Amino acid sequence: MQNKLMALKEKAIQLIEDADSKDTLEKIRVDFLGKKGEVTSILKGMGALSNEERPKMGKIANEVRGAIEENLKNAVDGMKRIERDRKLKSETIDVTIPGTPRKLGSKHPISVTLDEISKIFISMGFQVADGPEVETVYNNFDALNAPKNHPSRDMTDTFYISDDILLRTQTSPVQIRTLKSQEPPIKIISPGRCFRVDTPDATHSPMFHQVEGLIVDQEVTMADLKGTLDLFAKQLFGSDVKTKFRPHHFPFTEPSAEVDVSCFKCGGSGCRVCKGSGWIEILGAGMVHPNVLREGNIDAEKYRGFAFGMGIERIAMLKYEIDDIRLLFENDMRLIDQFK
Ligand code: PHE
Repeated sequence: MQNKLMALKEKAIQLIEDADSKDTLEKIRVDFLGKKGEVTSILKGMGALSNEERPKMGKIANEVRGAIEENLKNAVDGMKRIERDRKLKSETIDVTIPGTPRKLGSKHPISVTLDEISKIFISMGFQVADGPEVETVYNNFDALNAPKNHPSRDMTDTFYISDDILLRTQTSPVQIRTLKSQEPPIKIISPGRCFRVDTPDATHSPMFHQVEGLIVDQEVTMADLKGTLDLFAKQLFGSDVKTKFRPHHFPFTEPSAEVDVSCFKCGGSGCRVCKGSGWIEILGAGMVHPNVLREGNIDAEKYRGFAFGMGIERIAMLKYEIDDIRLLFENDMRLIDQFK
């Protein structure tokens, strides 16, 4: 019996050594140590042994069993280590392999210009307000003091959705929305898309962008308007530009002005950008009309304000010397890529 046990041990150890997978090792375990395994069946025959033989054999059998178990355990551990090493190796990343280059996108010139404009006003303490592109006729015209027969209300100028709803023709309706939703002091800018019936050409597009500005407080004067917009122009176009306020008319401001900036390209002597005049018109502005304040439920005796509005395309075209507004909406990468 002892010889048999020893032979089994040798056999098992050899098989374990030759095994090349965890499955094979498990099969060896079952074959030798399982309920019907070879070692087990020998142990079952122990009952037939004499009283002196039994403990001796029992000890040897246990040793054989222990030796096989230990060999199995070591082999399984070794197998696990090999598997882990193989896995780690297959998952190793070679950080020296050059990556796949991705083409970087760039900001659209309209966004670049809008960001520049917003940054300047935000640094002066303005907050950014938002308004819808689909507006009421009331917010776009009536509440802004536009006479019923104002030509801009014509179907030939304005896209109507219905009798009362239109695509806003300007960002000025945000003035009314803000007056109705905020208490003074109010200090906002509001950028966004506007729409007017226009046949596209080098200077016209039926869709374009504006930035509106509105301040309402107790002590707001025309001098504040001039100072604010002069500082804005200097920050946007360069500290040596001058501004000029020309009387104008808007239904929602009184007095109203158009603001020109001295040509940042030629310094005022006349060039292609300023079409020889030395001045470039950049925005419309004025003191908020008392009718507009009243429509916005603001006490027009106590509060005053100023407002301004500018076209973003126009400023982008001037700053970046883009000759044709249509280039801004054609997404030609030769233009867009310049704004990296
Ligand atoms: N909404 C005017 C326009 O579209 C611009 C403007 C805004 C003028 C605010 C005065 C005050 O021309």
